[in-house]
Amino acid sequence: MQLVEGEKEVIIACVNEVLKEKEKTTENLIPILQNVQARLGYLPSLAMEMIAADLAVPAADVFGLATFYNQFRLSPPGKHQVKVCLGTACYMVGGKIALESFERRMEIREGETSVDRLYSLERVACVGCCTMAPVVVVDEVVEGKVTPTRVDGIMLALQENGDTKKSEMKTDLPDEGEGKNK
Ligand code: FES
Repeated sequence: MQLVEGEKEVIIACVNEVLKEKEKTTENLIPILQNVQARLGYLPSLAMEMIAADLAVPAADVFGLATFYNQFRLSPPGKHQVKVCLGTACYMVGGKIALESFERRMEIREGETSVDRLYSLERVACVGCCTMAPVVVVDEVVEGKVTPTRVDGIMLALQENGDTKKSEMKTDLPDEGEGKNK
């Protein structure tokens, strides 16, 4: 994913700081990745390349490790984070359909973040609300019985919160030119 303005500098500073704190051994690779992710919210490619170079391991190994463990996220978290439960109870009653509906509406795939970074979409295991299946967690709010129609409603609510692309916005307020992520 393309970095936003100033992000490259933040990543470089963060990785350098983490690498300074940790002994540069391959045993520390996972703790280093965890630490960088904790600070940045995800593992940018640039960070993984820097870590690989510093530890003198192939970048492909670092990418492979980050991809293997699902504790690592390779896309930045969106402003709105949607987590679709695909635990057994939710899967059985339409969790996958809800996920696909979000994918269509957000124009991204599960595990990705929209280019404008407004939305990120991921699948999660049981969130402990099986009686409300299928369940979706939108910005930490649990939504139950999520049908494709409900997905449309959730997306509309997020857009009405001021996240609609400018061309689609229904507002009389003057354009203050703030908050552009592109
Ligand atoms: S399986 Fe989705 S909440 Fe339990």
